[in-house]
Amino acid sequence: MVAETTLTVDDLIAPLFVSETLSAPREIPSLPGVMQHTQDSLRAEVQRLGELGVPAVILFGLPAQKDATGSEAANPDGVVQVALQNLRSDVGDDMVLMADLCVDEYTDHGHCGIVTPDGQVDNDATLELYSDIAVAQAEAGADICAPSGMMDGQVLAIRDALDSENHEHVAIMAYAAKYASSFYGPFRDAVDVTIADGGDRKGYQQDYRNAREAIDEISFDLSEGADMVMVKPALAYLDIVAAARAITNVPVAAYHVSGEYSMVKAAAANGWIDGEAAMFEILTSIKRAGADLILTYFADEVAEILAR
Ligand code: PBG
Repeated sequence: MVAETTLTVDDLIAPLFVSETLSAPREIPSLPGVMQHTQDSLRAEVQRLGELGVPAVILFGLPAQKDATGSEAANPDGVVQVALQNLRSDVGDDMVLMADLCVDEYTDHGHCGIVTPDGQVDNDATLELYSDIAVAQAEAGADICAPSGMMDGQVLAIRDALDSENHEHVAIMAYAAKYASSFYGPFRDAVDVTIADGGDRKGYQQDYRNAREAIDEISFDLSEGADMVMVKPALAYLDIVAAARAITNVPVAAYHVSGEYSMVKAAAANGWIDGEAAMFEILTSIKRAGADLILTYFADEVAEILAR
């Protein structure tokens, strides 16, 4: 009766992986219970999530071909674009279809943008790629583009590109405060990404020692036209979630990322913690900190339990 915070199925966004090459869905060993999907198994999974009441999914693609500029990401026939078309025809307006907008799954060097000969990511050249990807995703049926590459100016570039192609209605969920985190490990297995030459993303993602910087990043994205802002990862960044909530009235999302999920799964598999209880405690704490929406690999499990 006096509970202040309640986790509901409406809070959940399910991240899903779709492959262009698999002929059958494949389990991701470091992300137990999560699959690399074929187009067909993805359709079945989204159907199931919809029946459970999950309102939204976010898609990540595994292309057949990677190249230096991640050109498959903007291909109208690319793996995520095909998935968006299929899902749109399956679900109509009943679910929100989001597309992660980045090139790291599509580049042969694994960076989130174009890399110059001296090994730096070229921010402004990358914005042109992102603009093309946004238009391709919108044309394929995305409701929301979610730029995750942390390039400066990415929200404005995407907004301009969408508007100039008559996609004013497509919203932007900005990965606004995204940290260079050790918790993304299993995700990189899920999308077959290895950063070339032992590199990292510290040039464009945030330093975990910094909180004020996150406020600037969020503010920039809002001024560029972000319709929603995201903090990522979630559990080690609840202070940032709370700070985001305090400075904006747009929806705040938090991404409970792959490593955060896998830690719970691993400890539960060893009998060291009660996995289901930990899942609810963690996700509720993210909501309590101020998130309206949670991207989580637990989405189907939570939805199933809440539907009982
Ligand atoms: C980048 C991207 C990453 C994740 C989502 N988008 C990986 C990265 O920044 O290295 C990680 C999500 C997770 O760990 O669950 N396109």
